[in-house]
Amino acid sequence: MLEEKDLEFIDSLIKKYNNDKTYLIEMGFDILNEYGYIPKYILQELCKKLNIPYSEAFSNLSFFNEFKFEKPKGIKINICNGISCYFNGAKELIDELKEYYKEDSNVLVSTGYCFKCCAQYPVVYVNDEIILNANKEVIIEKINSKIKI
Ligand code: FES
Repeated sequence: MLEEKDLEFIDSLIKKYNNDKTYLIEMGFDILNEYGYIPKYILQELCKKLNIPYSEAFSNLSFFNEFKFEKPKGIKINICNGISCYFNGAKELIDELKEYYKEDSNVLVSTGYCFKCCAQYPVVYVNDEIILNANKEVIIEKINSKIKI
């Protein structure tokens, strides 16, 4: 549901990018930074203002893995799947954590690509907190401490 602050945000995007729909991807990243995902109602309103079909915008943005269209769950584990991490434990860690949290709807396990700390593999984000040289036990302990708060 659109609120005043949403409309102000959309207007700020239109202004920032001079109402130029060729900057849709950049606008998508700005939406992601603001909301943590791409809310449908925001994209619909943006499309109205840019005079482009929603289906076209959705199709363009959904091409990129970075754009998520569902509200994130409470805790997001983002495991680096870049080359260094992949070959040094990330692959197993992804499988282990997906299995461990498969019944927990509050924890989302996802993957990203190279968080620029390649020598300290595997690299994992738990929400906004980076964990270097991660392993399953450390991640679970971190999440348990966040859930208690
Ligand atoms: S490959 Fe994982 S941080 Fe670069």
